[in-house]
Amino acid sequence: MTGERGPIIAIDGPAGSGKSTVSRALAERLGVERLDTGAMYRAVAWAVLRSGIDPGAGPPVVEVARTLAIDVGDRVVADGVDVTDAIRSPEVSRAVSAVAATAGVRAELVERQRRWVAERGAGVVEGRDIASVVLPEADVKVYLTATPEERARRRHEEGAEALARRDAIDSTRDVSPLEVADGARVVDTTGRTVEDVVEEVVGWL
Ligand code: CDP
Repeated sequence: MTGERGPIIAIDGPAGSGKSTVSRALAERLGVERLDTGAMYRAVAWAVLRSGIDPGAGPPVVEVARTLAIDVGDRVVADGVDVTDAIRSPEVSRAVSAVAATAGVRAELVERQRRWVAERGAGVVEGRDIASVVLPEADVKVYLTATPEERARRRHEEGAEALARRDAIDSTRDVSPLEVADGARVVDTTGRTVEDVVEEVVGWL
């Protein structure tokens, strides 16, 4: 930790690895805010579907990302609509990986994510490319994993097949694929309590 500001912590990992639960508890433990970048990609996917645009269409999808007002806090609000529940629907989960593989969408959202951190000087930021692209200067970089069975169990409403498909797209795309970044500590959350993982991460600060 450096003098003037609080800690900046990057949490990456595949679907169902425990990112949201761990980052929420970690942010509370440290008294800092948390940014769920996946919710931002999901909000764009929601807006793309609302407009009847093909999630893989490229330029029109980038246009949606550039013009959509997104507020990610306790609730997720997109263009004034509370989409907290809607962005977790199977339709959005099916569309989000194609939206997130679009370079122009990532450029827009990465800039907003960096601004969020610059304004606060601290925070827990979770996603897929946080340690590798968004915040390579983070104080601690954590890559969460869990066994495929455990991840599918945590995301039972999505289904193991859909989950595996999303992970495959996220890990093989050209722009910022999900990977263990340089300097990241890999933590397998299978069978571990949230408190246990949080204390381990706090110990690295
Ligand atoms: O919660 P879960 O791990 O199921 O997914 P999420 O964090 O809500 O992210 C949804 C999708 O957004 C991912 O499957 C990725 O396609 C994309 N995403 C991304 O590409 N980069 C990020 N930093 C965060 C999410």
